[in-house]
Amino acid sequence: MISENMKMMFDIGLVPLVVIDDAADAVSFGQALVDGGVPVAEVTFRTDACLDAIRAMRQHVPGLLVGAGTVHNVAQADAAVKAGAEFIVTPAFNPAVTQWCIDNHVDIVPGTVSPADIEAANGMGIEVCKFFPAAAYGGVKTLKALAGPFRDMKFLPTGGVNLENMTEYLDLSNVAAVGGSFMTPSDMVRNKDWAGITATCRQAVHNLLGFEI
Ligand code: 3PG
Repeated sequence: MISENMKMMFDIGLVPLVVIDDAADAVSFGQALVDGGVPVAEVTFRTDACLDAIRAMRQHVPGLLVGAGTVHNVAQADAAVKAGAEFIVTPAFNPAVTQWCIDNHVDIVPGTVSPADIEAANGMGIEVCKFFPAAAYGGVKTLKALAGPFRDMKFLPTGGVNLENMTEYLDLSNVAAVGGSFMTPSDMVRNKDWAGITATCRQAVHNLLGFEI
């Protein structure tokens, strides 16, 4: 069953990737996403600041749904949830992390890329999988092909999704949301250009809805 948080995430339709080097930037970063109309953050375990950033966002950015991404093992999932993460995303299909999340009633979007991965996730009761790296694994064409045999599975494509192609993905009936770094360009993060990130998020929402917010 899809939780209220996941429903909110899929209603928004966009999952910005957060790669943050300095946790002191977390609140400004999170607020930039909220101000841009995309109140979701997948804070990745690609930097040491990940857990402190999750903690700061949860404490100081009201209205922001905060999850942890690039989770490779149960220890990371556990630490992320203890820091306040409201959902977990894995880059690849990881049965141990997926089962741990199910057992602990934590929302999980497991990474998949093949019918074998999707079958395994489906067997564990997962209803939405990440599809990563989307562009390298056939993008829209592959997702269309997966819709037949996996008609109840929905996907969160990431990896090569951008402002130009995002609606091609979102137009597919089996796409719940799109994610990635295209809403949080690394040069903007490096330059602490929070207004730039807000503007980029607004552009993504505009592309999605067809009107300004
Ligand atoms: C992810 O972890 O979802 C991907 O690294 C996102 O890929 P992108 O940078 O191409 O959006």
